Formats: sequence, structure tokens, C-alpha cells
Amino acid sequence: MDLKKSLKQIKDTFEKDLKKVGDFDVLEAFEQRFFARKNGEFSALMKALKDVPKEAKKEMGQLANQVKQELEAALGAKRQELQRAAMANLGETEAIDVTQTFGIQTGHLHPMTIVERELEDLFGSMGFMVLDGPELESDFYNFEALNYQKDHPARDSQDTFFIKGHPEWLMRTHTSPVQVRAMQEYGAPLRAVVPGRVFRNESTDGSHEHTFYQLEGILVDKDISVAHLIGVMKELLKGILGKEVEVRLRPGYFPFVEPGFELDMQCQICMGDGCKACKHSGWVEMIPCGLVHPRVIEAGGLDPAVYSGFAFGLGSLRLAMQRFGIEDIRHMMSGDLRFLNQF
Ligand code: FA5
Repeated sequence: MDLKKSLKQIKDTFEKDLKKVGDFDVLEAFEQRFFARKNGEFSALMKALKDVPKEAKKEMGQLANQVKQELEAALGAKRQELQRAAMANLGETEAIDVTQTFGIQTGHLHPMTIVERELEDLFGSMGFMVLDGPELESDFYNFEALNYQKDHPARDSQDTFFIKGHPEWLMRTHTSPVQVRAMQEYGAPLRAVVPGRVFRNESTDGSHEHTFYQLEGILVDKDISVAHLIGVMKELLKGILGKEVEVRLRPGYFPFVEPGFELDMQCQICMGDGCKACKHSGWVEMIPCGLVHPRVIEAGGLDPAVYSGFAFGLGSLRLAMQRFGIEDIRHMMSGDLRFLNQF
């Protein structure tokens, strides 16, 4: 598709049709027609941006944003015109304009929330429950129940923020503690995903934050194998990125899975050439996963001789970056409107 041409066409149609809008109800429907997130005509064009070749992406992105701003300004002007007309129809003494908005703009979802909701829908369609867990967690659920003994070196990579005077409490370093909480609460068979915020004592850079988001998944039943795990992981990436992507599986170590894997995906920002977001490797570590360790199944109150399962812990901020072509994770929580208004 020639995006430049489509942008021009949509702008022309927008301006032509906006002239015909004569009241507030029609104006609202008109705005939805172009900007509704799911099937708005302009929103569809913004979505097509992700398929634009890398060399042209910046220019097209700027152009699309410029057109978006122009269309929004035209909508605002039309709103004021309708308000003035409504005022003119009122007598002088009744002139209280209840529709006056003082230029307040409607909000929209954060890119991270968009991806999180899509993940919840996707897993919901596969029969997974969506669960929550505490952000202030006990050492037991965050580490011990997940087979990290007290002085286990793997704890070092998950240093976090502790609570003064309460050595047993910490800000959870991952969403995995909810694996055990979920088994204890719901038993088996179990299918659950857990979106949530996690914390680590981490120096920040283009791909690391100290406060970030994960989506945990756990499935426990009889005779669950790596084949089930891979099938669900592929479905997940296809569902979110809208296409099959190249993946690779490497052995990965986490005390609470055996065997454990790192599922990497080809970087969708540089398509494998190397960039800041993939630390110039062409691959992004996407889904650490594995079969739930028998000790963890036991900690969840189930019999590992009867039940087996798989689990994964996806970095949702990084997935959102891949989905929208965002090259630096620090934009995500910056609250900078120049960034946020692009979504
Ligand atoms: C874990 O946290 C494990 N709990 C994942 C897991 C779950 C493995 C279930 C097996 C079974 P890891 O430390 O690799 O693993 O973090 C998981 C994901 O979170 C990473 O792949 C990455 O996408 C994201 N992540 C990790 N550290 C950061 C960070 N500082 N900033 C942003 N994202 C991060």
C-alpha cells in the first residue's frame, strides 16, 4: 500500500465529509468512523505503519502524526462551530453552554495496556483465568517456594527493594510467585495468566527498567509436555504480532522449571540487523519458560507424580516495544505526551 497516497486520500475525505456534519451526535459518529481503535479508518492506517520498510518508517511516522494533528484540529474547530451555533439559538438570558468542553481532550490507552489487554483476551480464548498477586511479596513465595534456597546464586540476578525492618518482605522481582499461590488456591487442572508489575534493583538502559511488567502463565494438568508449551508460545506471538515470527529456543536456567528455556524472537525493530533494543544481536529474549519443577508443584499442594505443567514469564514492556517499534524502554514510563500521543 502507498501510505503517503492513502494519508492524502483519507485527509481529503475527512475534510470533505466534515463539512456535512451538522450536529453533535453526527460529529461523534464521524470521529469514531476515523479514530475508533478497532476499525477506525485512520487507526487502520496507523496500524499499517508497522509494515512500512525501515528506511521510510521515520518519515512516514512523522507525516502520519502531522495528518493526525491536522484532523484533530479540524474536529476541534467543528465542535466549536457547532457550539457557537447552539448558543446563537438560545436567548440571551438562557445562554449557558452546557456542552462547553474548554478544550479537554479524551484520553487513550497506554501502549503497554493495549498489549496487556490483548494478551488477556488471547489467553481468555484458550481457557486461561486472569489472576492477580501482591506486589509486596514474601521471601517464601518470591524465592523459596520456587526452589531458590536461601543462599542460591540465582537470587543475585533478581536483587530488589526490601522493606526496612522486615527482612521477609520484598517488592516481588517477577510474577512467578503467583504460580504457587494459584495452585494453592485453585488446585489442578489449572490454566492461568498473571499480568503485573515487578521490581528489580537494576541500572536502567534502553532495554532495562527497575520497575517493569511481566505476564506469567501457568498450565497444570496430567501429561503436560514441552510440545504443549511450544504450541501455546507460538499462538501467543502470532496473536500479538499478527504474523508468524522467527523464534529460537535456547536452554535457560531458572530453579523453578526443569527443563528451562529462553525463547528468543527475531527483533521486529531492526528485523535482525541489530539495534539498541536488541543490544545489537538481532534477537530479543522474549519468553523464558519451561516445565514446572516437581518441587514447585509440591509447594502448590499438588502431587508431582500425578500432575505436570508448563510456565512462562513474558516481559510485557519488551513485547509492547516490539509490537509498536519502540526503541527505548525508558519512553514507556516517561509520561511524556510527545511519546504517548502517538498511540
Ligand atoms: C523471570 O523473571 C522468570 N520469572 C520467568 C519465568 C517464568 C521463567 C516461568 C520460567 C517459567 P527473567 O529474569 O528472565 O525471568 O525475566 C523475564 C522477562 O522479563 C525477560 O525475558 C524480559 O523480557 C523481562 N525483563 C527482565 N528484566 C527486565 C528489566 N530490567 N526491564 C524490563 N524487562 C525486563
